[in-house]
Amino acid sequence: MKIFITGGKGMVGSFLTDAFMERGETVYSPSRQEMDITDRKKVVDTIRKINPDILIHCAALTHVDECEIDKKRAYLVNVIGTQHIIEGCASVNCKMVYFSTDFIFDGKKGVPYSETDIPNPLNVYGHTKLLGEYCVSHFLHNFLILRVSKVFGAKGRNFASLLPVLMLKEKKLFLTNNLINSPTYIVDLANALILLVKKDFLGIANICNKGECSWYKYALKVKEILGREDTELIPIEFERFSKGKAERPRYSVLDTTLLESIGCSMPEWETSLKMYLAE
Ligand SMILES: NC(=O)c1ccc[n+]([C@@H]2O[C@H](COP(=O)([O-])OP(=O)(O)OC[C@H]3O[C@@H](n4cnc5c(N)ncnc54)[C@H](OP(=O)(O)O)[C@@H]3O)[C@@H](O)[C@H]2O)c1
Repeated sequence: MKIFITGGKGMVGSFLTDAFMERGETVYSPSRQEMDITDRKKVVDTIRKINPDILIHCAALTHVDECEIDKKRAYLVNVIGTQHIIEGCASVNCKMVYFSTDFIFDGKKGVPYSETDIPNPLNVYGHTKLLGEYCVSHFLHNFLILRVSKVFGAKGRNFASLLPVLMLKEKKLFLTNNLINSPTYIVDLANALILLVKKDFLGIANICNKGECSWYKYALKVKEILGREDTELIPIEFERFSKGKAERPRYSVLDTTLLESIGCSMPEWETSLKMYLAE
């Protein structure tokens, strides 16, 4: 199978690139310098030239607060850029996988969100990712929209993976205790994606580990597993330091009933965290 991965140097994209290459697949994964997704001609020409069986679109502006500050760029990359990818996929008739987020929801439901719940993003990042979803489902038939949250276990400047390192350096860490969602271990995410592709599942699917937590609860678990008794963890409410930051959903846990019905049972996040830290 020939696989095209955008954002292949990012956290999710680089992991998937390695994972598919290890499985013996042919992977083409250009950097932003090699193929900027805001360049329509470059994108369409490159996809036509590669002519992949499947395109996994991981490129995005993912820093939530930066998206709020530079709205124009966020829309350009996350919406117009996605539209260019869609056009390329349509021209070669390949399957497109689009990564979305729990941040498309406002967090007011109080119980986990299923794939059919009505989104209502609170910030620019969530809004641009939702518009990307709408473009994919409007213009393509052969697509997979995967909603993930709080991905951990891969390279990159992401908090979930940095936390164990921070804990070795810092004596005291302040962590939010009132933004709740579900961590997603990149290995479990890749396995679920492979299964969905194998089963030729089309449409929207939530992918995350079972259970839920705040960053504070996540850090407590990291501390317990690593035995870092000297690091003090202090819970704080998001409102205490939210000035100048993008608004965030308070409870954006994703329901994985659909994923389970397809035969993909995700482990509890604590189990996957233990596996990750053991590595
Ligand atoms: N990580 C999570 O917890 C999480 C949660 C929910 C959803 N998601 C979604 O999952 C996907 C992958 O996220 P990630 O964590 O891997 O993000 P990431 O580490 O920030 O990687 C994003 C990649 O996109 C590239 N990129 C940005 N602008 C581009 C452009 N104009 N043209 C081409 N490439 C561009 C970046 O390249 P440069 O570094 O060179 O700019 C980077 O390699 C995204 O769609 C994100 O919204 C992630």
